[in-house]
Amino acid sequence: MFNARLQAELDELEEKGLRRVLRGLDGAQDRVVGIGGKAYINFCSNNYLGLAADVRLRDAAAASLQQSGFGAGASRLVCGTLSEHQKLEERLAVFKGAERCVLFNCGYMANVGIIASLFGRGDLILSDRLNHASIIDGIVLSRADFRRYPHCDMAGLERLLREAGGKYRTIAVITESVFSMDGDLAPLDQIVRMTKQHGAVLMVDEAHAAGVFGAGGRGAVEHFGCGSDVAIQMGTLSKAFGSFGAYVCGSTRLIEYVMNRARSFIYTTALPPSVAAASLKALEIIEAEPGRREALWRNATEMRRRLKEAGFDTLRSVSPIIPVVVGDEKRATTFSAKLFEQGLLVTAIRPPTVPANTARLRVTVTASHTPDDLECLLRRMKTVGEELCLI
Ligand SMILES: Cc1ncc(COP(=O)(O)O)c(C=O)c1O
Repeated sequence: MFNARLQAELDELEEKGLRRVLRGLDGAQDRVVGIGGKAYINFCSNNYLGLAADVRLRDAAAASLQQSGFGAGASRLVCGTLSEHQKLEERLAVFKGAERCVLFNCGYMANVGIIASLFGRGDLILSDRLNHASIIDGIVLSRADFRRYPHCDMAGLERLLREAGGKYRTIAVITESVFSMDGDLAPLDQIVRMTKQHGAVLMVDEAHAAGVFGAGGRGAVEHFGCGSDVAIQMGTLSKAFGSFGAYVCGSTRLIEYVMNRARSFIYTTALPPSVAAASLKALEIIEAEPGRREALWRNATEMRRRLKEAGFDTLRSVSPIIPVVVGDEKRATTFSAKLFEQGLLVTAIRPPTVPANTARLRVTVTASHTPDDLECLLRRMKTVGEELCLI
């Protein structure tokens, strides 16, 4: 019975073009990756600054391995806090202009732990409709009341804030700064103004903005100059940092509270210290080499301009995440497969990761792509786009 049910559901996913499979890389995560012995130009990683395979991150991790060994051996609060964790937390707090920072083992665990610990029954959470699954799961776990406002719709948010006035212990607004599948930017300046006016607490997920936005790569809060107005700044080390892990920055009180209450912080073994050492090295590179960010933005701006010029729908992207909306799931898979045949890796993103009928190729450019890489992708996307009657 059980196996038959699983099989029937897998078959149904297959039938709808929604079944997912793993594709293994032969070597490192980089501008060009090997799959099954063939080389592909990679246009779908979150390795925005090209740091994932950087030799300096590897050397930093190797040095830490020599000194501190591999496993952390315990949760942070028992005896798993090593000097690598503490150094990284101190440096991230300075980087983000916050009093304190605490690490989590990944962004998913951070969002789930932060939200479920800070909010609960008697509170209201207002969440952008396109917020990441980890934010939604954190909200569900928190048991707080939960309303979604239409994506980046400030009038909708304002209405919900007004309606909620006086009825809750705490009202929180949670938004991504750069949306992971649309590549657009939340109007943080307006959200800050509104949350202040209504006495709400603001949490911003900077997963795709840290290292990418802002003059110093400090994220969209730096871009908007509103860091001190965002009570809870969460970010990941798995994307532009090319490493792994996540953090939350804020006041000393907030961080102490999260460390004492967040179950995904308390009840899990600490990150291997070598991973924290690699993240610290990535942070130093992000601060010392603004040229990487400049190259990333040159590539992103050029790619988006030319995709739009060719007639593709790139939604409201203003970041290195450039969606090319196809609509139908099977057509999106075909688009991706045809590019793959020609040596280009651009995975199709389908529901439930994106809303129904908005299946897409999520093109991500990085600082490492060359002008020839961009040219090659554009030429082939135009040909396949015409074949599929998308343009
Ligand atoms: C907006 C957002 N938040 C959180 C996460 C989770 O981060 P991590 O991959 O570090 O678990 C992701 C990506 O996976 C994301 O896109």
